Amino acid sequence: MGFPEIRMRRLRRSATMRRMVRETSLRVDDLIYPLFVRAGQGLKKPIPSMTDCFHFSPDRMAEEAAEVAGLGIPAVLLFGLPAHKDEQGSEAWFEDGVVQQAIREIKKCTPDLLVVTDVCLCEYTSTGHCGVIKPALGPEGRSASGLRVGDGKVDNDATLELLAKMALSHAQAGADIVAPSDMMDGRVHAIRQALECNGFDDVAILSYAAKFASAFYGPFRDAAESAPAFGDRKSYQMDSANAREALREIELDIEEGADIVMVKPALSYLDIIRRARDRFDCPIAAYNVSGEYMMLNTAAEAGLLDRDTCMMEVLTSIKRAGADIILTYFAKKAARLL
Ligand code: PBG
Repeated sequence: MGFPEIRMRRLRRSATMRRMVRETSLRVDDLIYPLFVRAGQGLKKPIPSMTDCFHFSPDRMAEEAAEVAGLGIPAVLLFGLPAHKDEQGSEAWFEDGVVQQAIREIKKCTPDLLVVTDVCLCEYTSTGHCGVIKPALGPEGRSASGLRVGDGKVDNDATLELLAKMALSHAQAGADIVAPSDMMDGRVHAIRQALECNGFDDVAILSYAAKFASAFYGPFRDAAESAPAFGDRKSYQMDSANAREALREIELDIEEGADIVMVKPALSYLDIIRRARDRFDCPIAAYNVSGEYMMLNTAAEAGLLDRDTCMMEVLTSIKRAGADIILTYFAKKAARLL
């Protein structure tokens, strides 16, 4: 049987008909709203590179968290901008660091709002890299002390210990979920061990499992003041051409103890989200990153696109590709429309 017995338009006839046969629906429950915490007091300052986003000092977090919770959004993701950066990124695990303070402020006022924390050193290191750097080799391939110590690259194994300390300090401050985004090998295992050994076996890990070296992070790096001082992140973040490798990354993170795995960015990687959905049964998250957010905002501000309609189309496409959870700067706006 074919046309005219089959007419696909019959089920598109009215809004009610379309609503009934709709395959994908975006829910407020699917959203996580990212927030930037910065050292200071009484601060709520617009971020120039990101429309409608702000830097908050820890003491201003509770009111923002209350608004997010009031919209029904289940979780926030916290990024920290410390007072001082150093080579190791040591403010990342300060008991009184910006993120640790913010977690406590939020939990005091809105205990049911889930707090997810980004675990990565790039906002805390003076080098802007996601790990510690091995001292560069001297002219004869030796350091000043005579030992063959490194090549000026990010040191994977030395970084693991620091990430574990950072994640543990977030858990101690009250985080519900820690989200490592550094792409070091073995970090999920290291963080899981640290949490287990210190009585935080119920803190979940949302791993940025397939995180690509993407130019779409540009506006975020301005917002988080985390652009690398030299080189790029291509020796640890993934090559954007690789899909099978992304599935291996995800599989390894699940084996190491990740509860939720993420694909990032979302829009240029919808195929990865779909393949992850088909292959793995744990919740899949996708990050609608700053560049994706600002492409739409900039086009809307130029009068070229309708922001709300395009936003819903974009978020629905990420859900349709297979994501259960979407991290997006549009979360509040979308929640209001839903
Ligand atoms: C790294 C981190 C980045 C983002 C989230 N966590 C930037 C990077 O890897 O350079 C990007 C988020 C965005 O672009 O919205 N800690």
